[in-house]
Amino acid sequence: MTKTYNIAMIGGGFMGKAHAAAYAAMPMFFWPAPGIPHRKVLVDLNAASAEEGRQRFGFEEASTDWRAIVARPDIDIVDIVTPNDSHAEIAIAAAKAGKHIICEKPLARTVEEAKAMLDAVQAANVIHMVAFNYRRTPAVALARKYIEEGRIGRILNFRGTYLQDWSADPNGPLSWRFSKNIAGSGAVGDIGTHVVDMARYLVGEVASVNAMTQTYIKTRPLQAGGVDKLGASDKSGNGPRGVVDVDDEVLTMMRFENGAIGSLEATRNAYGRNNYLTFEIHGDKGSILFNYERRDELQVMFADDPSDARGFRTVYTGPAHPYGDGLWPIPGLGIGYTETKIVECHDFFKAVATGVQPSPNFVDGYITECIAEAILKSAETGNWTEVRK
Ligand SMILES: NC(=O)c1ccc[n+]([C@@H]2O[C@H](COP(=O)([O-])OP(=O)(O)OC[C@H]3O[C@@H](n4cnc5c(N)ncnc54)[C@H](O)[C@@H]3O)[C@@H](O)[C@H]2O)c1
Repeated sequence: MTKTYNIAMIGGGFMGKAHAAAYAAMPMFFWPAPGIPHRKVLVDLNAASAEEGRQRFGFEEASTDWRAIVARPDIDIVDIVTPNDSHAEIAIAAAKAGKHIICEKPLARTVEEAKAMLDAVQAANVIHMVAFNYRRTPAVALARKYIEEGRIGRILNFRGTYLQDWSADPNGPLSWRFSKNIAGSGAVGDIGTHVVDMARYLVGEVASVNAMTQTYIKTRPLQAGGVDKLGASDKSGNGPRGVVDVDDEVLTMMRFENGAIGSLEATRNAYGRNNYLTFEIHGDKGSILFNYERRDELQVMFADDPSDARGFRTVYTGPAHPYGDGLWPIPGLGIGYTETKIVECHDFFKAVATGVQPSPNFVDGYITECIAEAILKSAETGNWTEVRK
């Protein structure tokens, strides 16, 4: 009989939806499942939003008091899907209560917060995961497999981008993502960290960076509380405006510890780019190219191909590729954002069931935070900046 685990999910917004969908679907895809997720308690800021989240996301109970919920003996797992300012407090309390934790990215607003979270989960000896789900895209995991097998040789260069346009309109609302005290940073923490995670997953540790950041849109219309409106709705140039005190754009060079070099670009203001999370990597035996907007495909070029067949070819991911045994039985049926969260959920439950830490975990979340910190420092000083160890 597969064990059932009770989940307390803190936050019922955008990521609440993604995580709840994954809890419902994971055993349908991965069977036998490593554990059965039971959606026990949904916590949100007020009674109405908690009750709405409970119904919508299929939880048994609703609550507005995460402190009481994470202390409850019948809760096995705490899932943190709140804005970044509450990750540390909730995670530390959950660790002290002995709960396994999955926390959305970025792990924290600062290196200090991330370190305190890491110390807490290590002291409590609980399972911990940070939700960088894009590395669970089968094509991304396939890129890693090719790299591990040496099929593109020694990596020389990583070019990563994360371009979106949901905040390109200056009259898009002042989401919490534009406030330093809630988000920690702007494009760097929100989407740049996804690229950092890709770079670490595929290439290795980043030693130093030389970065520029820019804030072009300095005020935005205030949004009335509740779930983040992102940029898609409620556009109005007439109401009161608030200050944007985080970066809009980031561009950085990177030196990796293994001698590779690279670059990272991230912005939420690039008109025409939707979720353009890409990497292009070349090694001394070939190249790999990925674009999340075409997430079932991996472009590969192997230098030892016959000279009359040189060029990129497209591999469509399917059953022969990572996670193929759990996802769909035919290549090209297509996976979406939810599938990356279903795979993430599977790997988290596998870790909980076996007691072996998953990857990426809070160690990765902490290191990513150190890299984000170096990027922000370098942008301030204009100097090459070492990532703290
Ligand atoms: N992995 C990804 O691709 C990805 C994508 C989007 C967001 N995120 C991350 O997920 C986290 C949540 O972002 P989101 O987009 O879901 O935000 P959101 O604004 O859509 O939802 C946040 C929810 O948390 C609730 N909340 C806020 N503070 C709370 C508290 N103290 N206690 C209980 N509930 C609280 C809000 O009322 C809201 O329902 C952030 O850390 C964000 O960076 C990750």
